[in-house]
Amino acid sequence: MNDHLIKIEGIAKRFGGRDGAETTVFENVHFAIEQGEFVCLIGHSGCGKTTILNILAGLEPASDGYVFVGGREIRGPSLDRAVIFQSHALLPWLTVMGNIAFAVSSRWPEWDKARMRTHCQKYIDLVNLAGAEKKRPAELSGGMRQRVGIARALAIQPKILLMDEPFSALDALTRGMLQEEVLRICAETRQTVFMITHDVDEAILLADKIILMTNGPHAKIAEIVVNTLPRNRSRHDLHRHPHYYRIRNHLIEFLVDRSRAFDRETAAGDYDPRNPPLVAPGLSEVAEAAAHAAPRPLASSRPMAVVVTH
Ligand SMILES: Nc1ncnc2c1ncn2[C@@H]1O[C@H](COP(=O)(O)OP(=O)(O)OP(=O)(O)O)[C@@H](O)[C@H]1O
Ligand SMILES: [Mg+2]
Repeated sequence: MNDHLIKIEGIAKRFGGRDGAETTVFENVHFAIEQGEFVCLIGHSGCGKTTILNILAGLEPASDGYVFVGGREIRGPSLDRAVIFQSHALLPWLTVMGNIAFAVSSRWPEWDKARMRTHCQKYIDLVNLAGAEKKRPAELSGGMRQRVGIARALAIQPKILLMDEPFSALDALTRGMLQEEVLRICAETRQTVFMITHDVDEAILLADKIILMTNGPHAKIAEIVVNTLPRNRSRHDLHRHPHYYRIRNHLIEFLVDRSRAFDRETAAGDYDPRNPPLVAPGLSEVAEAAAHAAPRPLASSRPMAVVVTH
């Protein structure tokens, strides 16, 4: 059995309307994340992605179901789960160092100044912000602010990093640079990450697994796509991998067609929300290639319920 760091069992969210009618945003959501895994969640606007992230963070209760972190059911927020929002949410009166130190001191209040500084500096260097320690948020670019947010989240050494479209407010060039940095940092620190994105290429670059959510109301997890590209991928060589387009087309086809028609299509099938199908686009080609050439490291391929798409 896999040792899951996060286990989500049958969560649902319902909101009551002004007329007393209740809307079920999503229900029967089950998935798990392993230690060191990078998982992206993709789905159309309004299907409930942010709500799921907030439930995981402990910022919002689920209407049904359970969330376990390290085998324990969560009860509210914790420094074990750091959140990076779309907007950086830095304290404007504090410097870069001050913002990071503020978070670190809540985690380790007993640390002296020197220890605190050394620790914060390590994370400032990690996100390439050396030299900007004394700047305040107003003096930084959008990309630099988001980097401070990432450094602050990582500096408290959370068990899980939760990110809600962290790069969506940035220009394409800065977004690309930050994606590569996050990829490098996560490889270095073996950080477990749950991230929401609308960007299919971002998900293929960063994620080991991509969770696909159907449209709401009553949204559910349609399937979990295993990223079959090697883990040492980069933004520049992504499109050169033989099954990059297989994964990409699979995700886009889901967003364009199947996310809407999912309920109708699966009505007669054997879809079980407790065990959404694991899909590995191009996996058969990888197996073939492996037979002819040196083995290619797979990002994360588990032999349970794998559906190979062509
Ligand atoms: N406090 C609330 N009261 C009532 N409805 C809410 C509340 N919060 C969220 N919703 C509804 O729940 C649904 C899911 O919202 P959520 O923000 O999780 O969507 P999302 O998938 O993150 O969308 P986006 O991609 O646009 O960020 C939406 O239809 C939203 O209107
Ligand atoms: Mg959202």
